[in-house]
Parts: sequence; C-alpha cells; structure tokens
Amino acid sequence: MKIRVGVFFGGKSVEHEVSVISALQACRSLNTEKYDIIPIYITKNTEFYIGENIGKIEAYRNIPALLKESSRVIPVGNGGTVELLHYPMKKFGSNVAATIDVALPVVHGTNVEDGALQGYLQTLGIPYASCDVLSSAVGMDKYVMKCVFADNGIPVLPATVVNVKQFTREHDAVLELIESRTQYPVIVKPVNLGSSVGIRKAKDREALEEALDYAFTFAIKVLVENAVTELKEINCSVLGDYEEAEASECEEPIANDEILSYQDKYVGGTKSAGGKSGMASLKRKIPADITPEQREEVRTLAVKAFKALGCSGVARIDFMLDKATGKIYLNEINTIPGSLSFYLWEPVGVKYSELLDRMISLAFKRERENKSISFSFDTNILENASFGGSKGAKGAKS
Ligand SMILES: Nc1ncnc2c1ncn2[C@@H]1O[C@H](COP(=O)(O)OP(=O)(O)O)[C@@H](O)[C@H]1O
Ligand SMILES: [Mg+2]
Repeated sequence: MKIRVGVFFGGKSVEHEVSVISALQACRSLNTEKYDIIPIYITKNTEFYIGENIGKIEAYRNIPALLKESSRVIPVGNGGTVELLHYPMKKFGSNVAATIDVALPVVHGTNVEDGALQGYLQTLGIPYASCDVLSSAVGMDKYVMKCVFADNGIPVLPATVVNVKQFTREHDAVLELIESRTQYPVIVKPVNLGSSVGIRKAKDREALEEALDYAFTFAIKVLVENAVTELKEINCSVLGDYEEAEASECEEPIANDEILSYQDKYVGGTKSAGGKSGMASLKRKIPADITPEQREEVRTLAVKAFKALGCSGVARIDFMLDKATGKIYLNEINTIPGSLSFYLWEPVGVKYSELLDRMISLAFKRERENKSISFSFDTNILENASFGGSKGAKGAKS
C-alpha cells in the first residue's frame, strides 16, 4: 500500500499565499508511485479543506468558489494515523473523507511554521516531516534563535528587543537604549515574521521612530540591530536531523533595493515568474559568488546551526557577509523554507522528489525514536485519586 501523505498548507499567516505556492509545487514533485497525496488547505480562518481542486494552483484565483466546491474536514487522531472527517458530519454513510499516515507541513510564518501546527500534529499522534515543536518555535523568533546560536559559538549580530508597550510608555528611554547599543544605520524587524514583512532600515532617530511604529503594526515584539552596509547575502539549506545533516549548494539572493523585499522574493524579476514559482523565482546566483573558503565556512556553520536547534527535515539558513570586514553572520533560520529549498539541492545532485522522500523518512525515523521513549511513569497516583479532602488538593503538581 502507498504511504498516504497529507500536505498541509495555508493558515493564518502573512505568508499564506506563498505557502500555497510552495505546497502545490511539493505536491507535483512527490513520487506518486510511493505516495497517495492529499493536499489539505488551511484557510485564513483556520478551517481545513480537501477536495478535487484543492491541489490545483489555478483554483486559488477564486478562493470562495474553491471552498464551495471542496469539503471542510476535521483531523482526528486514530492510533498513529489521522482521519479527516467531514465537517459538519453527514447523518448517513461514512464520515471519513480521507486517512493520512504522515503529514508534510508546507506552511510559512506565524501560527503554523512556529511550532503551532507541529504541536497540533504531535497531539494528533501522527508523524510529520518538519522540525519538531521546539526547533520550529525557536526558529521563528529572531531574538531567541540568536541566543541559542550565540551560545553555540555561531556568529550573530547582537540585537535589542523592544515590545510595543515599552515603546509607548518609555518612548525616549527606549530610543536611548537602542542608540547606546547600536550604531546608525540600523535594521528594525518584527521578531516573528518572515518574507521581509515589516522590516525597515533607519539612518537616524526620526527614521528609527518611524521604523519602530511601522514594525509594531505587524508584531508586538521587534528587534533592532546594526545594519550591514556592504552586504552580500548567502543562503544554504541543510537536510537531516540532530544526528546527521548535510549542507546544500549556497545561493546569493539579489535584492533590487537595500533590503531583500517581498517583491524580490516572490513577485520575481521576470513577468513569466508571475509569483507562480515562489522562492524559486527570486533573482539569485547559484552557486553564490564567494570564495571556496567562504562557501565551506557557510556550509559548516549552517549544519552546526541546524543541529544546535535540533532541526529535522529541511531548513534554510541565511547568512550575511559583511564585505567591509569579511565577517560572516548567521541572520536567520527558516525551518520551512520557501519552495522547501529544492533549487539548492538540485545542483548537488538531489532531485526534488528525493528531497521529499528523505524528509518523509526522517519523519518516520523521529516517530520510531519517540516510540522508544516511555510516556507513562508508573506511580499509581490516580488509583485512589479524589479531591475529597485537603490532602487530595495538595497532591497537585509540585
Ligand atoms: N542587519 C542587517 N543588515 C542589512 N540588511 C539586513 C539586516 N537584517 C536584515 N536585512 C535585510 O532584510 C532582509 C529580510 O530580513 P530577515 O531578517 O531575513 O527577515 P525575513 O524573515 O523577513 O526574511 C534580509 O534578507 C536583508 O536583505
Ligand atoms: Mg530572510
């Protein structure tokens, strides 16, 4: 029997549309001899849909019409698989619309890539082909990830984190704190978004205030760090898990402006890219225009970062090379990279279908390893459980 793969995408995130593109690309590359593919679209209202046209990119030109002809389902765990039940339930006949053995989350951004969907899948008890809850969550927070990387000896730019309440209440003190710790020009970014949403560069105090106001329209927490003015960006993907991981070819994304923008990333330089090919449409150099030593440094740091976070499956790690000093900084990790970084694996001989095979195998590997851990600890504390007396109440977790 084929393995039934549920490809989850969409969700309540600013990168919703990009995820639709990434996921449907992946669906086209999964080996149909090995897998039955069930695309599962999560709407911005967090409803799950499956159906004939859910896997067709053209259908997303009119989402209300697509939903009308598709079936809303609710995932229910069933002993290691997940059944997708019609919702609302039908009065007669079977309510099982589909069953999946493994989930492939191809989601980007908050509420989905950040461990939320991973936690949901874990609670349902199904293997999933992505980073686990903790690495996904840490990988989504640009400040927390820096702390973990710095602790592992990976170079990152120091950052100052500010929340919106602090900024409103202690406006001047916050600006002074930032100015005491960084030098203009600075970069201001929401800690937990992606796709360059909410990011601005500030050359003076006035621009800093504006950039903070702007970033706070997208997030409650933002960070400020020194801008690398002579910047070369280099991205590298890693495939594997905590035990064994390898690095892909390096790419050099090319920005039209100082900051690599949403437009640069997805709308593409050419009209024919037309937003259809997701991250794969970005203007870029592959391999990156760097020395062999720099390439090795990036690839080594990428694997180290991947393992430091305990990632699994495929991730893309983005670096900044300061051309003025030659220093390389890790900028961020994307635990579910756009287009799953397939275009970085093809140059090192890994076809997209093989990349997906390996991600799915790693999901089953983690599942086997988790099964060997005991999740019950025999203490019989429930045997005489009661809230009857004061003693019972004291038995709560201490
Ligand atoms: N410290 C920095 N110096 C210069 N440019 C930066 C810096 N941080 C971010 N950028 C620019 O902004 C872009 C988006 O920032 P990034 O931290 O990668 O967030 P996102 O998750 O939105 O991709 C980068 O690709 C780069 O072009
Ligand atoms: Mg980035």
